[in-house]
Amino acid sequence: MDRRQFCSSASACMTGAVSTGLSLPLWAADAKPRTYNRVVLTDELGKPLKTADLAPSTNYVFHYPFEGTPVFLLKLDKPAVPKQLSTRSKAAYDWPGGVGPQRNIVAFSAICAHQLVYPTPQLSFISFRKTKSAKGVQDNLIHCCADHSQYDPARGAQVLSGPAEQPLCAVLLEHDPRTDTLSAYATLGGELFDEFFKKYEFKLSMDVGPKARQQVATQSVVKGLDRFCKNPVQC
Ligand code: FES
Repeated sequence: MDRRQFCSSASACMTGAVSTGLSLPLWAADAKPRTYNRVVLTDELGKPLKTADLAPSTNYVFHYPFEGTPVFLLKLDKPAVPKQLSTRSKAAYDWPGGVGPQRNIVAFSAICAHQLVYPTPQLSFISFRKTKSAKGVQDNLIHCCADHSQYDPARGAQVLSGPAEQPLCAVLLEHDPRTDTLSAYATLGGELFDEFFKKYEFKLSMDVGPKARQQVATQSVVKGLDRFCKNPVQC
């Protein structure tokens, strides 16, 4: 991300803190966006993906900011407005909402904030559900079948139920209105990548190989979850 852009966003946020009467800045030290490589999202042929080609309320997966860290990309059925959230260490942050013409395109790390369950090519216990799951509290949530944590993607992946102690880490996207394409450039919220790489070191070495911890360089391929994963579990 352009440094000027970042400063401008940060100062806008600080202004928000004043106007809401909070004594602390909304972005605590560990809840600022963390910038990584700017990466264009592409289709499976390597062409930049257009948001018009995304099916609504459908699970898509790409990898960011590392080759081994999966992310859900969703086109919601309504605009996603900004939301103030906090990590489990109580660091506040302002999730900026959806992007795209309808402001309904969002992306979140697909690593569950409870015990790091994530979608693999063989199996996925976590996914977006258009209609309420058996233990669901409402429609249109990301549900993890491991222990039934549920996250609301229209509200920054805020936890609505279950044992997770913080929202899914957001992946920040930029939409280019001239081309209708998307780039990922940062994360925001509670990153769990260090714990993830430690917990799944062996599995990632088998599935992804030595590049699992490498930052994605310039492009990331977006796939439907049903193409990425052989067994998306429903519960
Ligand atoms: S790992 Fe997802 S709810 Fe426990």
